[in-house]
Amino acid sequence: MKHASNARIIRLMCSGRVDPQFIVDALAKGADGVLIGGCHPNDCHYVEGNYKCQRRLPITKKLVTEMGIDPRRVRLEWVSASEGVRFGQVVGEFTEEIRALGPLQLQEWSFDRAGADAQLARHGGDHA
Ligand code: FES
Repeated sequence: MKHASNARIIRLMCSGRVDPQFIVDALAKGADGVLIGGCHPNDCHYVEGNYKCQRRLPITKKLVTEMGIDPRRVRLEWVSASEGVRFGQVVGEFTEEIRALGPLQLQEWSFDRAGADAQLARHGGDHA
């Protein structure tokens, strides 16, 4: 499976396991963008994990936007484990879009863990 060399892959059992806090943490720790790859609709091994991830995405994008981060830096794509070519294309496209946005300037926003947790709670972000 070929993909952009500057992409770092973090494997989880299901996209439904992606907590919005993981995304905030990745951005706070130096990632310029986060791409979530989930199984296609109706193909999730855990039945509804991908739908759960999809429902969380607007909350996550709102959260990062309120932190001053362009929400295009977070993307969800349906791409299965068997779609190596497509995975490489999706990662390549996302990498180019993030490159066009430029590096995330962490000094543009101050990471406030307590504030981020409060935002998640206000928006009903569940961590299950
Ligand atoms: S197993 Fe749930 S999204 Fe792939």
